[in-house]
Amino acid sequence: MEGQGRARRDAAEVTAFAPATVANLGLGFDVLGLALAGLGDRVTARLVPGTGVRMGSITGDGGALPTEAARNTAGIAAIATLRRAGVQIGVELDLAKGLPLGSGLGSSASSAAAAAFAVNLLVGSPLRKADLILPCVEAEEAVSGRHADNVAPALLGGLVLVRSVDPLDVVRLPVPEGLTLAVVTPVFELATRKARAVLPKEVPLSSHVSNTANLAALVAAFYAEDLALLARCLPDAIVTPARASLIPGCMDVIDSALEAGALASSISGSGPSMFAFCRSQRSAREVAAAMGGAFTRAGLEWSSVVSSADCPGVRRV
Ligand code: HSE
Repeated sequence: MEGQGRARRDAAEVTAFAPATVANLGLGFDVLGLALAGLGDRVTARLVPGTGVRMGSITGDGGALPTEAARNTAGIAAIATLRRAGVQIGVELDLAKGLPLGSGLGSSASSAAAAAFAVNLLVGSPLRKADLILPCVEAEEAVSGRHADNVAPALLGGLVLVRSVDPLDVVRLPVPEGLTLAVVTPVFELATRKARAVLPKEVPLSSHVSNTANLAALVAAFYAEDLALLARCLPDAIVTPARASLIPGCMDVIDSALEAGALASSISGSGPSMFAFCRSQRSAREVAAAMGGAFTRAGLEWSSVVSSADCPGVRRV
């Protein structure tokens, strides 16, 4: 059982929790994401005889996820983490899904982040949290696409800008005091791969100019804690219009959020969850109810969470 890399081991079994994440934040396609409170996945990693990673129990997925480690995002992230750490041991992973699949809450990223973190702890933490991002991106790539805007905040917490994946370059951004999210998830599965397939391969220069201006202003708003500016920055000329028709009630949800007092609202990740930036927890509760009402009108059941915009990332539990 001793690993080739001879890393120090702290325990024979480690459990980690990684949070849900809201990627894109409207117009920051593949480059912005933040961690949420409350929701997330748990992974227990334990040493077993031999070498390699295998899946143990998987719960909360309705039997939908692959049981083969090389095809499961938790398993892929664990394999890539051990490879990066240069450690050869035997590991079994138990995955407890707290997040619905295909919900736009970074479900696959949460599993990957929890697995990578747990496995790294199991072998004595040879890697830093930031070193776990690329192993988790490998997992994301296998199921949806090569993007880090879910895995980076799931690992690091808070609000993260992914300047580049290859080579990796991520920037933690400040979060304005009190900024709160209302996130509403309809009971409706939308695979990220499908939501990426509808995106245009080329964009008009005018759309590029509009999105560049709004994204730059949004980052400025985060630094300046300027909520009025933030409220003007979410219009997205490229990705949101292409995806809106995939989500029943999408535009009604956004309109309802704004009417209920939200600063701004858009699709969470690749959807179908929708989010709104709000000034306070109280406002976010009212906004979530209004957004949920729009999903009800579209014939969908839904659930909601209210979360600070500045929440911790993966941790041991
Ligand atoms: N940036 C990714 C996308 C996030 O929008 O496809 C997927 O959760």
